Amino acid sequence: MNNNLLTLQKFEPEDENLLAEVTEGLQKLQKQLPCKLFYDERGSALFDQICELEEYYLTRTEMTIMNKYIDEISACLSKKCLLIELGSGSSKKIRLLLDHLEEPAGYVPVDISAEHLMKSVTTLAKDYPQLKIVPVCADYTQPLDLPYLNLPWSHKVIYYPGSSIGNFTPKEATTFLKLIARIADKTGGLLIGVDLKKERSVLEAAYNDKNGITAEFNLNILRRLNHELDADFDLAQWRHYAFYNSSEGRIEMHLTSLRNQYVHINNNEIFFKKGERILTEYSYKYTLEDFEQLVSDVFKVKHVWTDDDGKFSVQYLSVR
Ligand code: AVJ
Repeated sequence: MNNNLLTLQKFEPEDENLLAEVTEGLQKLQKQLPCKLFYDERGSALFDQICELEEYYLTRTEMTIMNKYIDEISACLSKKCLLIELGSGSSKKIRLLLDHLEEPAGYVPVDISAEHLMKSVTTLAKDYPQLKIVPVCADYTQPLDLPYLNLPWSHKVIYYPGSSIGNFTPKEATTFLKLIARIADKTGGLLIGVDLKKERSVLEAAYNDKNGITAEFNLNILRRLNHELDADFDLAQWRHYAFYNSSEGRIEMHLTSLRNQYVHINNNEIFFKKGERILTEYSYKYTLEDFEQLVSDVFKVKHVWTDDDGKFSVQYLSVR
Protein backbone atom coordinates (compact mmCIF):
# COMPACT_ATOMS: atom_id res chain seq x y z
CA MET A 1 0.00 0.00 0.00
CA ASN A 2 1.07 3.59 -0.49
CA ASN A 3 2.19 5.38 2.60
CA ASN A 4 1.77 8.79 1.03
CA LEU A 5 -2.01 8.35 0.95
CA LEU A 6 -3.48 9.15 4.36
CA THR A 7 -6.78 7.68 5.53
CA LEU A 8 -9.99 9.17 4.27
CA GLN A 9 -11.56 11.79 6.50
CA LYS A 10 -15.32 11.50 6.29
CA PHE A 11 -17.82 14.23 7.00
CA GLU A 12 -20.44 12.68 4.80
CA PRO A 13 -23.96 14.02 5.03
CA GLU A 14 -26.40 11.66 6.74
CA ASP A 15 -29.32 10.10 4.89
CA GLU A 16 -31.79 11.85 7.20
CA ASN A 17 -30.36 15.19 6.18
CA LEU A 18 -30.71 14.23 2.56
CA LEU A 19 -34.37 13.33 3.01
CA ALA A 20 -35.08 16.53 4.90
CA GLU A 21 -33.31 18.64 2.31
CA VAL A 22 -35.12 16.97 -0.57
CA THR A 23 -38.61 17.16 0.90
CA GLU A 24 -38.05 20.75 1.95
CA GLY A 25 -36.93 21.70 -1.55
CA LEU A 26 -39.91 19.99 -3.13
CA GLN A 27 -42.34 21.78 -0.85
CA LYS A 28 -41.29 25.20 -2.04
CA LEU A 29 -43.40 27.19 -4.45
CA GLN A 30 -40.62 26.87 -7.01
CA LYS A 31 -39.75 23.24 -6.41
CA GLN A 32 -36.04 22.65 -6.29
CA LEU A 33 -33.36 20.07 -5.61
CA PRO A 34 -29.79 20.84 -4.54
CA CYS A 35 -27.31 20.38 -7.39
CA LYS A 36 -24.83 18.58 -5.16
CA LEU A 37 -27.20 15.59 -5.52
CA PHE A 38 -25.90 15.13 -9.05
CA TYR A 39 -22.68 13.66 -7.77
CA ASP A 40 -23.29 10.10 -6.74
CA GLU A 41 -21.00 7.58 -8.41
CA ARG A 42 -23.01 7.44 -11.62
CA GLY A 43 -23.47 11.20 -11.72
CA SER A 44 -19.77 11.83 -11.18
CA ALA A 45 -19.02 9.51 -14.11
CA LEU A 46 -21.60 11.33 -16.25
CA PHE A 47 -20.02 14.62 -15.32
CA ASP A 48 -16.66 13.31 -16.49
CA GLN A 49 -18.34 12.53 -19.83
CA ILE A 50 -19.79 16.03 -19.98
CA CYS A 51 -16.29 17.45 -19.66
CA GLU A 52 -15.30 15.65 -22.87
CA LEU A 53 -18.27 16.92 -24.90
CA GLU A 54 -17.67 19.10 -27.90
CA GLU A 55 -20.29 21.61 -26.75
CA TYR A 56 -19.00 21.78 -23.18
CA TYR A 57 -16.17 24.24 -23.71
CA LEU A 58 -15.57 24.93 -20.01
CA THR A 59 -13.20 22.13 -18.99
CA ARG A 60 -11.27 22.16 -22.24
CA THR A 61 -10.82 25.92 -22.25
CA GLU A 62 -9.78 25.98 -18.63
CA MET A 63 -7.13 23.35 -19.29
CA THR A 64 -5.88 25.25 -22.35
CA ILE A 65 -5.40 28.32 -20.17
CA MET A 66 -3.74 26.33 -17.41
CA ASN A 67 -1.38 24.67 -19.85
CA LYS A 68 -0.44 27.89 -21.53
CA TYR A 69 0.25 29.84 -18.33
CA ILE A 70 1.34 27.06 -16.01
CA ASP A 71 4.73 28.64 -15.33
CA GLU A 72 3.18 31.93 -14.30
CA ILE A 73 0.55 30.14 -12.27
CA SER A 74 3.09 28.00 -10.44
CA ALA A 75 5.23 31.02 -9.71
CA CYS A 76 2.17 32.72 -8.31
CA LEU A 77 1.38 29.83 -5.95
CA SER A 78 5.07 29.70 -5.01
CA LYS A 79 6.97 27.20 -2.88
CA LYS A 80 5.60 24.78 -0.29
CA CYS A 81 1.97 25.45 -0.79
CA LEU A 82 -0.66 23.14 0.58
CA LEU A 83 -3.19 22.53 -2.16
CA ILE A 84 -6.79 22.10 -1.11
CA GLU A 85 -9.06 21.21 -4.01
CA LEU A 86 -12.80 21.65 -3.64
CA GLY A 87 -14.85 19.16 -5.66
CA SER A 88 -11.79 17.22 -6.75
CA GLY A 89 -13.85 14.60 -8.64
CA SER A 90 -11.47 12.48 -10.67
CA SER A 91 -8.43 14.59 -9.64
CA LYS A 92 -7.29 15.08 -13.22
CA LYS A 93 -6.78 18.83 -13.30
CA ILE A 94 -4.49 18.82 -10.30
CA ARG A 95 -1.83 16.82 -12.13
CA LEU A 96 -0.70 19.75 -14.20
CA LEU A 97 -0.14 21.80 -11.05
CA LEU A 98 1.58 18.93 -9.27
CA ASP A 99 3.91 18.52 -12.23
CA HIS A 100 5.00 22.15 -12.07
CA LEU A 101 4.76 23.37 -8.50
CA GLU A 102 7.88 23.75 -6.47
CA GLU A 103 7.81 21.41 -3.47
CA PRO A 104 4.06 21.20 -2.91
CA ALA A 105 3.56 20.46 0.79
CA GLY A 106 0.54 18.25 0.28
CA TYR A 107 -2.73 17.76 -1.51
CA VAL A 108 -6.13 17.76 0.17
CA PRO A 109 -8.85 16.71 -2.28
CA VAL A 110 -12.35 17.42 -0.98
CA ASP A 111 -15.26 15.69 -2.66
CA ILE A 112 -18.81 14.68 -1.82
CA SER A 113 -18.63 11.29 -3.52
CA ALA A 114 -16.51 8.93 -1.38
CA GLU A 115 -16.27 6.17 -4.00
CA HIS A 116 -15.19 8.50 -6.75
CA LEU A 117 -12.74 10.23 -4.45
CA MET A 118 -11.06 7.04 -3.26
CA LYS A 119 -10.75 5.66 -6.76
CA SER A 120 -9.07 8.84 -7.99
CA VAL A 121 -6.67 9.33 -5.11
CA THR A 122 -5.50 5.73 -5.18
CA THR A 123 -4.28 6.21 -8.74
CA LEU A 124 -2.89 9.63 -7.94
CA ALA A 125 -0.93 8.32 -4.95
CA LYS A 126 0.76 5.76 -7.16
CA ASP A 127 1.67 8.36 -9.76
CA TYR A 128 2.96 10.85 -7.16
CA PRO A 129 4.70 8.72 -4.54
CA GLN A 130 6.37 11.76 -2.97
CA LEU A 131 3.16 13.65 -2.45
CA LYS A 132 1.25 13.57 0.83
CA ILE A 133 -2.44 13.18 0.05
CA VAL A 134 -5.19 13.70 2.60
CA PRO A 135 -8.58 12.88 1.04
CA VAL A 136 -11.62 14.46 2.66
CA CYS A 137 -15.15 13.37 1.88
CA ALA A 138 -17.39 16.32 2.65
CA ASP A 139 -20.04 18.65 1.38
CA TYR A 140 -17.85 21.71 0.98
CA THR A 141 -20.85 24.03 0.70
CA GLN A 142 -21.20 23.55 4.45
CA PRO A 143 -18.67 25.07 6.83
CA LEU A 144 -15.90 22.54 6.98
CA ASP A 145 -13.13 21.78 9.44
CA LEU A 146 -10.06 20.41 7.79
CA PRO A 147 -8.15 17.78 9.70
CA TYR A 148 -5.02 18.88 11.49
CA LEU A 149 -2.23 18.50 8.97
CA ASN A 150 1.26 17.83 10.14
CA LEU A 151 2.78 18.87 6.83
CA PRO A 152 5.52 21.40 6.07
CA TRP A 153 3.34 23.98 4.36
CA SER A 154 4.12 27.64 4.27
CA HIS A 155 0.71 28.74 3.01
CA LYS A 156 -2.55 27.27 1.80
CA VAL A 157 -4.01 27.60 -1.66
CA ILE A 158 -7.59 26.62 -2.31
CA TYR A 159 -7.99 25.26 -5.82
CA TYR A 160 -11.55 25.64 -7.09
CA PRO A 161 -11.59 24.93 -10.81
CA GLY A 162 -14.37 24.33 -13.29
CA SER A 163 -16.45 27.41 -12.49
CA SER A 164 -18.34 25.55 -9.80
CA ILE A 165 -18.61 28.91 -8.04
CA GLY A 166 -21.38 29.46 -10.61
CA ASN A 167 -23.63 27.06 -8.71
CA PHE A 168 -24.02 29.64 -5.97
CA THR A 169 -26.18 32.71 -6.28
CA PRO A 170 -24.01 35.83 -5.92
CA LYS A 171 -25.26 36.21 -2.36
CA GLU A 172 -24.41 32.61 -1.46
CA ALA A 173 -21.08 33.00 -3.23
CA THR A 174 -20.19 35.92 -0.98
CA THR A 175 -20.82 33.83 2.12
CA PHE A 176 -18.91 30.93 0.66
CA LEU A 177 -15.93 33.11 -0.28
CA LYS A 178 -15.70 34.33 3.31
CA LEU A 179 -15.50 30.71 4.43
CA ILE A 180 -12.76 30.01 1.93
CA ALA A 181 -10.81 33.07 2.98
CA ARG A 182 -10.94 31.85 6.56
CA ILE A 183 -9.47 28.48 5.53
CA ALA A 184 -6.82 30.11 3.35
CA ASP A 185 -5.85 32.53 6.08
CA LYS A 186 -4.01 35.83 5.62
CA THR A 187 -1.11 34.18 3.85
CA GLY A 188 -3.12 32.06 1.46
CA GLY A 189 -5.09 32.40 -1.71
CA LEU A 190 -7.64 31.01 -4.09
CA LEU A 191 -6.94 29.67 -7.57
CA ILE A 192 -10.31 29.62 -9.24
CA GLY A 193 -11.87 28.90 -12.63
CA VAL A 194 -14.63 31.30 -13.62
CA ASP A 195 -16.81 30.95 -16.70
CA LEU A 196 -17.46 34.20 -18.54
CA LYS A 197 -20.54 35.72 -20.13
CA LYS A 198 -20.86 35.09 -23.86
CA GLU A 199 -23.42 34.58 -26.62
CA ARG A 200 -26.53 32.71 -25.62
CA SER A 201 -26.13 30.09 -28.36
CA VAL A 202 -22.73 28.97 -27.06
CA LEU A 203 -23.92 28.89 -23.46
CA GLU A 204 -27.11 27.02 -24.20
CA ALA A 205 -25.38 24.44 -26.40
CA ALA A 206 -23.02 23.63 -23.54
CA TYR A 207 -25.99 22.57 -21.40
CA ASN A 208 -27.99 20.91 -24.18
CA ASP A 209 -25.51 18.58 -25.84
CA LYS A 210 -26.74 16.60 -28.79
CA ASN A 211 -25.77 13.26 -27.23
CA GLY A 212 -28.09 13.90 -24.32
CA ILE A 213 -25.42 13.34 -21.68
CA THR A 214 -26.39 16.49 -19.79
CA ALA A 215 -30.02 15.33 -19.86
CA GLU A 216 -28.92 11.98 -18.39
CA PHE A 217 -26.91 13.83 -15.76
CA ASN A 218 -29.90 15.96 -14.84
CA LEU A 219 -32.33 13.03 -14.71
CA ASN A 220 -29.85 11.04 -12.65
CA ILE A 221 -30.89 13.12 -9.66
CA LEU A 222 -34.35 11.50 -9.77
CA ARG A 223 -32.89 8.05 -10.25
CA ARG A 224 -30.80 8.65 -7.19
CA LEU A 225 -33.80 9.69 -5.10
CA ASN A 226 -35.52 6.48 -6.19
CA HIS A 227 -32.57 4.39 -5.06
CA GLU A 228 -31.54 6.20 -1.94
CA LEU A 229 -34.79 7.56 -0.59
CA ASP A 230 -37.11 4.95 -2.00
CA ALA A 231 -38.92 7.54 -4.11
CA ASP A 232 -41.03 6.55 -7.12
CA PHE A 233 -40.19 9.07 -9.85
CA ASP A 234 -41.08 7.68 -13.28
CA LEU A 235 -38.09 8.90 -15.28
CA ALA A 236 -40.00 8.62 -18.54
CA GLN A 237 -42.33 11.37 -17.31
CA TRP A 238 -39.61 13.99 -16.88
CA ARG A 239 -37.60 16.02 -19.39
CA HIS A 240 -34.33 17.91 -19.13
CA TYR A 241 -34.64 21.66 -19.73
CA ALA A 242 -31.78 24.18 -19.71
CA PHE A 243 -31.69 27.80 -20.83
CA TYR A 244 -29.75 31.02 -20.31
CA ASN A 245 -31.53 33.53 -18.13
CA SER A 246 -29.77 36.64 -19.38
CA SER A 247 -31.27 39.09 -16.91
CA GLU A 248 -29.89 37.00 -14.05
CA GLY A 249 -26.73 36.03 -15.95
CA ARG A 250 -27.13 32.33 -15.36
CA ILE A 251 -27.86 29.01 -16.98
CA GLU A 252 -30.80 27.33 -15.30
CA MET A 253 -31.32 23.60 -15.38
CA HIS A 254 -34.75 22.19 -14.69
CA LEU A 255 -36.66 18.94 -14.94
CA THR A 256 -40.08 19.36 -16.51
CA SER A 257 -42.99 17.13 -15.52
CA LEU A 258 -44.54 15.71 -18.68
CA ARG A 259 -47.94 15.14 -17.07
CA ASN A 260 -49.93 15.64 -13.89
CA GLN A 261 -48.43 13.18 -11.47
CA TYR A 262 -47.93 12.22 -7.86
CA VAL A 263 -44.55 11.18 -6.55
CA HIS A 264 -43.89 9.52 -3.20
CA ILE A 265 -40.80 10.05 -1.13
CA ASN A 266 -40.83 8.29 2.17
CA ASN A 267 -44.17 9.34 3.70
CA ASN A 268 -44.64 12.40 1.57
CA GLU A 269 -46.82 12.60 -1.49
CA ILE A 270 -45.94 15.40 -3.85
CA PHE A 271 -48.11 16.57 -6.73
CA PHE A 272 -46.61 17.91 -9.97
CA LYS A 273 -48.67 19.64 -12.61
CA LYS A 274 -48.04 18.92 -16.27
CA GLY A 275 -45.35 21.40 -17.37
CA GLU A 276 -44.27 22.19 -13.82
CA ARG A 277 -40.52 22.28 -13.31
CA ILE A 278 -38.06 21.33 -10.62
CA LEU A 279 -35.07 23.65 -10.53
CA THR A 280 -31.91 21.55 -10.25
CA GLU A 281 -29.03 23.92 -10.95
CA TYR A 282 -27.90 27.47 -11.49
CA SER A 283 -24.68 28.10 -13.33
CA TYR A 284 -23.84 31.78 -13.11
CA LYS A 285 -21.65 33.45 -15.73
CA TYR A 286 -19.61 36.53 -14.93
CA THR A 287 -17.73 39.33 -16.61
CA LEU A 288 -14.27 39.96 -15.18
CA GLU A 289 -15.60 43.16 -13.62
CA ASP A 290 -18.63 41.40 -12.10
CA PHE A 291 -16.38 38.84 -10.54
CA GLU A 292 -13.87 41.26 -9.13
CA GLN A 293 -16.75 43.11 -7.56
CA LEU A 294 -18.19 39.88 -6.15
CA VAL A 295 -15.00 38.87 -4.35
CA SER A 296 -13.80 42.32 -3.39
CA ASP A 297 -14.84 42.12 0.28
CA VAL A 298 -12.48 39.28 1.06
CA PHE A 299 -10.12 38.81 -1.88
CA LYS A 300 -7.84 40.85 -4.05
CA VAL A 301 -7.61 39.73 -7.70
CA LYS A 302 -3.89 39.23 -8.30
CA HIS A 303 -3.84 37.61 -11.72
CA VAL A 304 -6.34 36.82 -14.44
CA TRP A 305 -5.55 34.43 -17.26
CA THR A 306 -7.99 33.93 -20.15
CA ASP A 307 -8.14 32.13 -23.48
CA ASP A 308 -7.89 34.09 -26.74
CA ASP A 309 -11.67 34.16 -27.21
CA GLY A 310 -12.32 35.27 -23.65
CA LYS A 311 -14.58 32.33 -22.95
CA PHE A 312 -13.18 31.38 -19.57
CA SER A 313 -10.84 32.69 -16.92
CA VAL A 314 -8.47 31.31 -14.35
CA GLN A 315 -7.79 33.72 -11.52
CA TYR A 316 -5.52 33.93 -8.54
CA LEU A 317 -6.94 35.81 -5.61
CA SER A 318 -5.15 36.60 -2.41
CA VAL A 319 -6.84 37.05 0.93
CA ARG A 320 -7.24 40.70 1.87
C1 AVJ B 1 -19.46 21.65 -12.31
C2 AVJ B 1 -21.00 23.35 -11.71
C3 AVJ B 1 -19.20 23.84 -13.18
O1 AVJ B 1 -22.26 24.45 -14.08
O2 AVJ B 1 -21.17 23.92 -15.85
C4 AVJ B 1 -22.36 20.74 -16.25
C5 AVJ B 1 -22.04 21.46 -13.79
N1 AVJ B 1 -24.14 21.11 -15.11
N2 AVJ B 1 -23.42 20.55 -17.05
C6 AVJ B 1 -21.51 23.69 -14.70
C7 AVJ B 1 -22.82 21.11 -15.02
C8 AVJ B 1 -24.49 20.76 -16.35
C9 AVJ B 1 -20.97 22.45 -14.01
N3 AVJ B 1 -20.18 22.81 -12.81
